[in-house]
Amino acid sequence: MKIVYLNPCGNLGGAETSLREVLASIRAAEPDWELWLILGEDGPLGPIARDLGVRVIVQPFPAELGRLGDTGRGVVLWPLWKAAWGTARYARSLSALLRRLKPDIIHTNGFKMHLLGAWTRPARTPLVWHIHDYVGSRRLMSRLLRLFGGACTVAVANSKSVAGDLHTLLPTLQVVTIYNGIDLNRFSPFGGKMDLDAVAGLEPAASGTIRVGLVATFARWKGHRVFLEALARLSSECPVRGYIIGGPIYQTGGSQWSLAELQQQARGLGLEGKVGFTGFVEDAASCMRSLDVVVHCSTEPEPFGMVIIEGMACGKAVIASQAGGASELFVDGENALGHAPGDAAMLARQIKRLAEDPDLRLQLGQAGRVTAERLYHRKRLATELLALYQNIHRDPAEAELEAVVQAGARRRSTP
Ligand code: GLC
Repeated sequence: MKIVYLNPCGNLGGAETSLREVLASIRAAEPDWELWLILGEDGPLGPIARDLGVRVIVQPFPAELGRLGDTGRGVVLWPLWKAAWGTARYARSLSALLRRLKPDIIHTNGFKMHLLGAWTRPARTPLVWHIHDYVGSRRLMSRLLRLFGGACTVAVANSKSVAGDLHTLLPTLQVVTIYNGIDLNRFSPFGGKMDLDAVAGLEPAASGTIRVGLVATFARWKGHRVFLEALARLSSECPVRGYIIGGPIYQTGGSQWSLAELQQQARGLGLEGKVGFTGFVEDAASCMRSLDVVVHCSTEPEPFGMVIIEGMACGKAVIASQAGGASELFVDGENALGHAPGDAAMLARQIKRLAEDPDLRLQLGQAGRVTAERLYHRKRLATELLALYQNIHRDPAEAELEAVVQAGARRRSTP
């Protein structure tokens, strides 16, 4: 079996972290399969995939296509028009590359690659769209996906909530929900830690300080502002130090905070010295092990939320924004704490509760680890994906025969 994966971004956002686990789990389950990854941008994902034995080709997007974003607030025609010519050229070269590679299955990750995959896939090659985000609210992307939906053999959604959104948009498309999986040996309560104060350039915190971290890319909806406001609401007696862990990683214009903007917000809220910025950290597991509380506080429904299961797997008390797919991952008060998206006062109350109650932190952390072992092992991911691949993979001889039969039928029906 030869599978070609297509991904727009080379940096490690949530969808790329998910793809890394997909590649690792398929590689472990089927060492003889030929796995290829075509990236629209160079970045850390390339070497990571190569180390897993995946053949990687970086075919950079033209700049206008990379920057093109769909915020859902309307279709901006000028950037679309500017990107059109470069995109058509890109599609031509991608199509030639795919014809040369002759994949048995194409698996796309990320909206731009879903469309390019549908546009350029060699005839009769099954196409899997791995959908990580809601599309219904994106005006441009939802129209385009509807237009290209006929080329997709089956879509994988990362949560039931995302599957529901997709089903509303494309009722005839076959959609399967497959939850993400992670490496439970890496995301484990045991292992190295990181000196977060040093990484963030802060004075060492006093002993007894509770370290609370928001681990997220700098996408605007990840709730950095809410996190900072929640920290600012805590009384000065509450021994908490906050950390913002992550950085701006996307090419799409206007979609993310800059570090300077967030630092300014922190200063404006009087949080100087009370919150540290670590930048992007590759070793997310060590980073989480160094925290007492892992925070996820997206202001919009989160399609899945890798950080939630990673924090749980590290045996940490997690506070998560309870909406969308994220709310399928935990039970409030049992294996994590929830809060309403965007509600800084409620987030502050949950942080305070955990800061004051070491037993609750321990209990949630232990229950979180048990949940991760039961539900989010990446072996389960491989099992579900392999079943899907085997289902759609067609024997080349059988596909050839069908093509000949269809061509004959077309000839007979032509007067
Ligand atoms: C996207 C989603 C995020 C999810 C990740 C992996 O980044 O926004 O919620 O965790 O994909 O599926």
